[in-house]
Amino acid sequence: VAVLRKDYRPPDWLVPEVALDVVLDPERTVVRATLKVERNGDHDRPLRLAGDDLELLKVSGGEWHMDGTTLVVAIGGDSATVETEVAIAPNANSKLMGLYASGGILCTQCESEGFRRITFHPDRPDVLSRYRVRMSGDKGRYPVLLANGNEVTKGEGEGGTHWAEWEDPFPKPSYLFAMVAGDLQPNRDHFTTASGRKVDLGIWVREKDLPKTAHAMESLKAAMAWDEKQYGREYDLDVFNIVAVDDFNFGAMENKGLNIFNSRYVLADTETATDADIDAVAGVVAHEYFHNWSGNRVTCRDWFQLSLKEGFTVFRDQSFSGDMGSEAVKRIDDVRLLRAAQFPEDSGPLAHPVRPDSYMEITNFYTATVYNKGAELIRMMKTILGPEKFRAGTDLYFQRHDGQAVTCEDFVRAMEDASGIDLKHFRLWYEQAGTPKVTAKLEHDAEARTATLALTQTVPPTPEQPTKMPMPLPLQTALIGANSGAEIGTERLIILDKSEDRITFDGVDEPPLLSINRGFSAPIIVEAERRPGELERLAQSDGDPFARYEAIQELMLRVLIGGANGEAVDPDPVIAAMRDTLTSNALDPAFKGEALVMPSEALIGDRMEKVDPDAIHAAREGLRAAVGRSLARELGEAQRAGAPGSDLSPDAKGMRRLKTVSLALLAAGDPAGTAPLAKAQYDAADNMTDRQGALGILSSLDAAERQQAFDDFYLRYRDDTLVVDKWFALQAVAQRDETLATVRALTEHADFTLANPNRARSLIGAFAGNQWAFHRSGGEGYAFLADMILAIDAINPQVAARLIPPLGRWRRFHEDRASLMRGELERILKAPGLSKDVYEQASKSLA
Ligand code: ARG
Ligand code: ZN
Repeated sequence: VAVLRKDYRPPDWLVPEVALDVVLDPERTVVRATLKVERNGDHDRPLRLAGDDLELLKVSGGEWHMDGTTLVVAIGGDSATVETEVAIAPNANSKLMGLYASGGILCTQCESEGFRRITFHPDRPDVLSRYRVRMSGDKGRYPVLLANGNEVTKGEGEGGTHWAEWEDPFPKPSYLFAMVAGDLQPNRDHFTTASGRKVDLGIWVREKDLPKTAHAMESLKAAMAWDEKQYGREYDLDVFNIVAVDDFNFGAMENKGLNIFNSRYVLADTETATDADIDAVAGVVAHEYFHNWSGNRVTCRDWFQLSLKEGFTVFRDQSFSGDMGSEAVKRIDDVRLLRAAQFPEDSGPLAHPVRPDSYMEITNFYTATVYNKGAELIRMMKTILGPEKFRAGTDLYFQRHDGQAVTCEDFVRAMEDASGIDLKHFRLWYEQAGTPKVTAKLEHDAEARTATLALTQTVPPTPEQPTKMPMPLPLQTALIGANSGAEIGTERLIILDKSEDRITFDGVDEPPLLSINRGFSAPIIVEAERRPGELERLAQSDGDPFARYEAIQELMLRVLIGGANGEAVDPDPVIAAMRDTLTSNALDPAFKGEALVMPSEALIGDRMEKVDPDAIHAAREGLRAAVGRSLARELGEAQRAGAPGSDLSPDAKGMRRLKTVSLALLAAGDPAGTAPLAKAQYDAADNMTDRQGALGILSSLDAAERQQAFDDFYLRYRDDTLVVDKWFALQAVAQRDETLATVRALTEHADFTLANPNRARSLIGAFAGNQWAFHRSGGEGYAFLADMILAIDAINPQVAARLIPPLGRWRRFHEDRASLMRGELERILKAPGLSKDVYEQASKSLA
């Protein structure tokens, strides 16, 4: 049964206050809840409290009965106090929703609908309550007791127990509830807000992990300062705590005053984490912190509005990371992710609008569309309004809706009201799924000294949306002189809001080159007509770093797609552009590192009529080999340069990126000859970026060094869970004939378990993303993935459901593969006891 956006109704009952008394026990925790409830509006409907996997012990406050898993309480007056007592079993909670155990720590995850696995409650985001929580338990096992807000009292109990009471002064929806009990140690620091409030900061981890928390703490303080400066948002409690746990379904969770994190987004040092991991820690710490305003103070009315908080908060964390490092490289990374994760979603069977219209299981909608395309919508509004009016819009939004549960529409209206700019048409971006496609053709009239840009746009059909309206697409555009390499006139913002348009540029005295969608100002596909030599020229001279990157990538893609389609292609322009980039004095190393990575096999596939994984692999390896051989000298130099691991400046990170990217190309050109060099980089590394980089390359080589390095890596890091995840993942991404066999064998490894989401994803998820290996003919990879999905589903449906999309892409493949993929989806659907999560994704993938 689907939940529909149009069926929204305000809650019948409000719950202004919640008091919880939790007696902690890993086998059987008892939760007593006291809810103050108030009738909302003129109706005579009973109070309905959601519950999931609760053992009901007691109810008082009204006549009650169960309707399925819902507790229905008949209440006479307009307000009442309802008390319930339930028992729950944290140790048996393998779904990791509600209260569960992770390595002996008890913790919670409530978003979206996990609070109902702790106690009976309306458990919807538009019911906001003040919480008071009493936790008690064994002091030896749970020396630390944390919950939202401030600790108000604590004391010793009988038989080696103790207790603590926490109170959160801010009314909040139940999905932001959190508590933690365990043997944890804090990294303590503090931050003084702009208005002088002193905030105690704590990052709580197991004692051995304390040395790995420094970077997260620095990131937190930087994020707090940034939000004050960029958005005028101050923190509002006296404490801010972060807890890291090893078992977590997603990245992290913004619970009020008590963020709970997947440990991979907290723990990092240069010995065990790559530069990318370290940047991800900063990004996620900032993301969860920013939610305090974009999510907590102003929250979502219902789950269809999820992008209200997620799209906006992703945009905020992206901007933060751009400001902390290289803005251009951050944009390139974000667009790469959008194209890798969101574009395929938008063109496949699970396509949905940024604000969906229906769902069976809301957890399936924590998607790249809601998060990352959602962030692009906010970015486009900022582009259209300009930075000052955008800031006026966010100020108005926060001021107008503080303490409320609101909608995406409310956000757009605040932008309109503050700026005076009409965004009526822009709202289509929230409604229509699918990635718009634009064609562009530029014509020069030398005599009239003008150029005319002819544009068309189409928005493809998606499930339940067969026809689309044209949308407003903000296109940052410039013309560049083909001879001078200089910009003609100034960059302009074209808003293409029709199916077709023509734009004229004046004062065009030399043949112009088109630089369009600069900075990726709209999240769309642009097909620009290019004359011979144009992309090469743009790759050398475009002043917009993103556009320059695009030109190089497009040059590569043309050769790669041509090659995959069996055409005779000339690699020389690509080699020349790569040489220019590599040896340029004007470009920084981080940009070079990004620009020299060839489009992934998946991305090449997305641009083909049908995906042919073997042909794509051959074309890409062929081009990489040609580059590796032709540029061996330049690449060797970049590989030797590098930077010391202790240096985390953007340039040093760039040098390391360039080092491994160069090694990869050298290995493509001369696999046998490069294996010792890769092993040498591995051995000499004083940081994980260089070491993992080398191991990732060795992984695809048939050389003795391969096994030596993997054995060494395991012995070195076998006690570090997060690094062991890497050890699994790096074997699953190998471009080798044996990859499936290796992965299968690794599922039997003593350290492998499907119960830990990071571990399951490191092997199974990484394999399913290895296009060539996963799609080896015969379909064994498909059968393996389906087996794993079913096995994981019995443990943790959320994790299982996220593995469906690789099979759901079957329409993109030729019939031999497509029918095998379909067959596995059908087998999954027939399995007994399938979760709602997997059912929704598999059935939609077949529809
Ligand atoms: N709100 C969390 C974030 O910061 C993610 C929560 C994911 N929960 C879920 N049920 N999908 O993005
Ligand atoms: Zn979020």
